[in-house]
Amino acid sequence: MDLYEYQARDLFAAHGVPVLDGRLATSPQEAQAAAAALLAQGAPLVVVKAQVKTGGRGKAGGVRLARTAAGARQEAEAVLGMDIKGHTVRSVLVAEGADIASEFYLSVLLDRAGRRYLAMCSREGGVDIEALAAERPQALARVGVDPLTGMTPTLAARLVAEAGFEPGEVAEAVTEVVLRLWEVLTGEDATLVEVNPLVLTTGGRVLALDGKVTLDDNASFRHPGHADLVDRAETDPLEARARAAGLNYVKLSGQVGVMGNGAGLVMSTLDVVAYAGERHGGMRPANFLDLGGGSSAEVMATGLEVVASDPQVRAILVNVFGGITSCDTVADGLVAAVDRLGGLPKPVVLRLDGNNADLGRAILTEAAVDGVELVDTMDAAADRVTAIAEQITSTSSTEA
Ligand SMILES: Nc1ncnc2c1ncn2[C@@H]1O[C@H](COP(=O)(O)OP(=O)(O)O)[C@@H](O)[C@H]1O
Ligand SMILES: [Mg+2]
Repeated sequence: MDLYEYQARDLFAAHGVPVLDGRLATSPQEAQAAAAALLAQGAPLVVVKAQVKTGGRGKAGGVRLARTAAGARQEAEAVLGMDIKGHTVRSVLVAEGADIASEFYLSVLLDRAGRRYLAMCSREGGVDIEALAAERPQALARVGVDPLTGMTPTLAARLVAEAGFEPGEVAEAVTEVVLRLWEVLTGEDATLVEVNPLVLTTGGRVLALDGKVTLDDNASFRHPGHADLVDRAETDPLEARARAAGLNYVKLSGQVGVMGNGAGLVMSTLDVVAYAGERHGGMRPANFLDLGGGSSAEVMATGLEVVASDPQVRAILVNVFGGITSCDTVADGLVAAVDRLGGLPKPVVLRLDGNNADLGRAILTEAAVDGVELVDTMDAAADRVTAIAEQITSTSSTEA
């Protein structure tokens, strides 16, 4: 998960990386109040910064200086609602403005290919670092960090020296920031921590003016607090609901809902549906949903609800291969789920195979659930479900 600058700034502050005071605002009024508070506590100027998860905000006009609270309000009016590389600005960070003498670059990241971490530093910050690395790689110092020994004061000092900082106040302050960033990376289980720019002010202070942090989602169980950092407005509501129910759901763009047990089976089902769809009006999978090992009515019902509530979905393919969870258990789960939902929201084609398949099919035939069609093979089921989806699509477009 990538964080917003203001969230990165909070984590920086918590780990002792020097940052300036700032407040989040979602309206021009709030921005004005935030600026007034910062100016009252002695800030010479403030900066209004678009909060979007992409770089290059400065170039796009999303970072603006203001000297008065009313000025900050005006800048916030201009920045809120702005589109920056496809991201709509919903909030701004109103921060103390710095009097910048020079801009540097610092980052620490997971280097998967090298099976280590990589720390990078440059005296030329504030610029597009990818371009710098490509055009003048010698301007970007790099030091590999062994995960077992971690970042050390010696290593941090070497990085800073290799970047061309002469011994003296600034080199030491930058070295200290490198060590603090390492604390952020390891303490928060991040895979990337970047500061661009790290600045030296005319008053001689070293400060992180911009921050980018990517958290490792696989470690989120170790950080209950990180759940608060998730941007609800940005996550797909269906994905959020599925996640809350412990289901692995990914929204796709087609018309055929797909559910199955096991990620591998679901992935191959997506292929088979897309292939069958070529014969049926170009119908495509609408989602990936892995029911996992469970087959309870609860899981089945939530899965069906999530998949069916996508308005694009015309028909649903449930593809189950009974293993440890046998087909009769899955069939019982489906019957109970339909009961709980008070009927099926969309037509379902079901393919059941594997352990106790006959028993599972018998249960479903017996229950004679309205809207469920049993098909024996995966290919035939994909063909049937795309045909149904095509038919519903053409009927609804003639009605419209
Ligand atoms: N608090 C601040 N005070 C003064 N100037 C700032 C401040 N924050 C950012 N800037 C200036 O704006 C530039 C762009 O801001 P930054 O936060 O790096 O956004 P982005 O990287 O998305 O363009 C910085 O390189 C710096 O020159
Ligand atoms: Mg930046």
